[in-house]
Amino acid sequence: MSVARTFAGALVGLFLIAGTTDRAAAEANYPTRPITLIVPFAAGGPTDIVARTISQHMAGTLGQPVVIENIAGTGGTIATIRAKRSTPDGYTIIIGHLGTHAAAVAVYPNLAYDPSSDFEPIGMVAGTPVLILARKDFPANDLVAFASYVKANRARMAHAGMGSVSYSFCIFLNHLIGATPEFTAFNGTGPAMKALLAGQVDYMCDQIVTAVPQVKATAIKAYAIGTTERSPALPDVPTSEEAGLPQFRGSAWNALFAPKGTPKPIVEQLNSALSKALDDDRTRKELVALGSVLPEGDARSPRALADLVKREIARWSGILQPLAR
Ligand code: MLT
Repeated sequence: MSVARTFAGALVGLFLIAGTTDRAAAEANYPTRPITLIVPFAAGGPTDIVARTISQHMAGTLGQPVVIENIAGTGGTIATIRAKRSTPDGYTIIIGHLGTHAAAVAVYPNLAYDPSSDFEPIGMVAGTPVLILARKDFPANDLVAFASYVKANRARMAHAGMGSVSYSFCIFLNHLIGATPEFTAFNGTGPAMKALLAGQVDYMCDQIVTAVPQVKATAIKAYAIGTTERSPALPDVPTSEEAGLPQFRGSAWNALFAPKGTPKPIVEQLNSALSKALDDDRTRKELVALGSVLPEGDARSPRALADLVKREIARWSGILQPLAR
C-alpha cells in the first residue's frame, strides 16, 4: 500500500472519529438551544392547546424554551412533511395525532410520509374524545333528531382538512346516518369553532378540548361523545350509545414524534420531559379539565405509541377507504 493511500485512510479515520465525538458531545449536552414544536393546525384548536399546555412544563425540565410553530394546511400533512424532513437532532419535533399519523394514510394515496417508519415516536400526550357538535340554534335537540334533519336537509359541515380528526370522524358519522352535507374546510378546528359559534356552519365533530368551554357556556350544542363512558368534563353529554348511535365509537389522541434518525438518548430525554409534564399537578389539572384522558405507565412509552400508530392506521384505513370509493 502506498504512503499516500495509508495517509488518506488515516485522515478519513480521523474525520470519522471526530464526527462521532461531535455527535456524542451534542447528544450529551442536549439541549443547548430552543426546541421547535410544530403544531400542524391553526392556533386555538385542540392540538395547539394540548401542545402549549405540555410545552411550558417540558421547557422547564429541558432548560430550554420549547417554541410552538403553527404550520397549518391540508389536514396537518404539510407540517408533518416538514417535520419528517427536519434535521433529526431533537431540535424540531411535532405533535401529531390520529389524523396526521393514521387517518391521513387512508385518504391521501400519495402521502409523502409513512407515519410508522419516518418518525421516532416520543410518547402519547393525551387521549381526546370526539363529540358531535352543532351551532346553538340548530333545529335538533338530540342525536336522533339531528340525524334525521341532516339526512333530509343539506347542512354545512365544518372540518380541518381531509384526513384530520374532525374530517375522519364526521365522514364516518355521515356514512352511519346517511347524510350528504356541504363541506367547509378550515386550517384547524380553532377557526372552525369560531364559524360554528357565529352560525356560519351547522355541525362538526371536534375533540373535547375545544368543545368543553363552549358546551358549558351553552354557546353550541353537543349531541354525543364517542366514548363508552361519559366524560367527567362534560357529564351531561350522553355517550353515542346512550344517544342512539353506538357505532359512532372512538377517541382521538395527540402524541409527540421526532424525525427518523433522532438519536435514542435524545428521544428518551424528550419522553422523560413529557412524562414529567404529565405528572405535574397543574398541567394535569388543565388537561383533565378540558376532557383529556392522560396516559399512565407503559402507555407513555415510545413502543406503545409505535403500536398505537400501526393499529390506528389499520382501523382508519378500514373505515375510510371504502367510503372514499
Ligand atoms: C386542530 O387542532 O385544529 C384539530 O386537531 C384539527 C383536526 O384534526 O380536526
